Amino acid sequence: MAGHGVPAPMRSTKSGPLTGTAEIPGDKSISHRALILGALSVGETRITGLLEGEDVLDTGRAMAAFGATVERLGEGEWRVAGVGVGGFREPEDVIDCGNSGTGVRLIMGAVATSDLTAVFTGDASLRSRPMGRVTEPLALFGATATGRRGGRLPLALTGAANPLPVTYRSPVPSAQVKSAVLFAGLNAPGITTLIEREATRDHTERMLTGFGAEVTTEITEEGRVITLRGQPELRPQAIAVPRDPSSAAFPVAAALLAEGSEVLVPGIGLNPTRAGFYDTMVEMGADIAFENRRDEGGEPAADLRVRYGVLKGVEVPPERAASMIDEYPILAALAATAEGRTVMRGVKELRVKESDRLDAMARGLEACGVRIEEGPDFLIVHGMGADGVPGGATVESRLDHRIAMAFLCLGLATRAPVTVDDAGPIATSFPNFVPLMRGLGAEIG
Ligand code: S3P
Repeated sequence: MAGHGVPAPMRSTKSGPLTGTAEIPGDKSISHRALILGALSVGETRITGLLEGEDVLDTGRAMAAFGATVERLGEGEWRVAGVGVGGFREPEDVIDCGNSGTGVRLIMGAVATSDLTAVFTGDASLRSRPMGRVTEPLALFGATATGRRGGRLPLALTGAANPLPVTYRSPVPSAQVKSAVLFAGLNAPGITTLIEREATRDHTERMLTGFGAEVTTEITEEGRVITLRGQPELRPQAIAVPRDPSSAAFPVAAALLAEGSEVLVPGIGLNPTRAGFYDTMVEMGADIAFENRRDEGGEPAADLRVRYGVLKGVEVPPERAASMIDEYPILAALAATAEGRTVMRGVKELRVKESDRLDAMARGLEACGVRIEEGPDFLIVHGMGADGVPGGATVESRLDHRIAMAFLCLGLATRAPVTVDDAGPIATSFPNFVPLMRGLGAEIG
């Protein structure tokens, strides 16, 4: 929900060794999609391992407001009785998506081809983020949106009563835009086509197929051409949500940062459209063993055994950016303790996340005594070596969970402690982050 209340400062202090097992919560992207697709199917979807972070809970409440029955049965265990494609009713009140860009953009897509009007809002972070990237393609289906200047929330969306199918070339590498278009296409007759130049996370395509929709993906010179046949009857599913590789990146990084550590991080989803961070870690010389590779809930997964080690700076290939877009904050923190410089290019999308993450990391690292170079589309971090980062600063988390977690991890390896001014936003994606890290031996409090 909008607002995070009173700021909760938190401090981390040089720690180590971290030991034990880090049980990571469910994947945020898959959790949102499980609730939305459950709500759009005919019958009862059962979800286990759902991420019970604020972002996902907001999406659950929104699905209930559009007419689905959403019920918690136990820890991570949820039941969604769907209304079927085209079955959403007009909500009686404003839909508050809290901090979640994924939530609001996917839901706007899912309702854009229904004959109803809904008003969306969120917290100060979400109200500052661009929504034009979804309302523009949704207008092609016949939906209309009126928001604040720049397409900002609060925004009223009136769905198309007689939607048309659409062919849309996404100008931005965004799984949220892709998913909004495909979800809108569900209630349009005929074939909706989405073309993306770079591959973004493909959970929507995988899950739509699982729910019984007809989805094809073809790799062409233009990029990935994804088609969806509209107006399917979605069949309810039993969904076991794999653990989130983006959340896992934080304890993995903590183990790499805190001297002498060895941590097991079991059952992490390693979908290739999400796993770029782990490829980068291996290139930086991280000691990570990928054990028991297997399939979990239709997604590749493995147990990660991570041991402390000194990292070396690398150039991250820009074409890898989409597959690790949420991991740049923690990568920047790791890069500060590496030997040599780490170059991150092709990352301008980071400027429109929960915060401007390039600016947030650049200012925070500078405050910790790290030399950086920053441009519109790049960040270069000059590594200071394992024991070289001074720290001793208070850093702004800017309503951004990943900025807060990245600096709390960095503080485990800096000479003086690092404080984040507000750790509250961590609850949006990783509610048990602090107890989990303390359980491994991290001094965070
Ligand atoms: C997400 C897509 C990404 C990512 C976000 C989750 C998704 O956003 O940053 O955390 O679940 O589709 P963009 O679509 O803006 O790249």
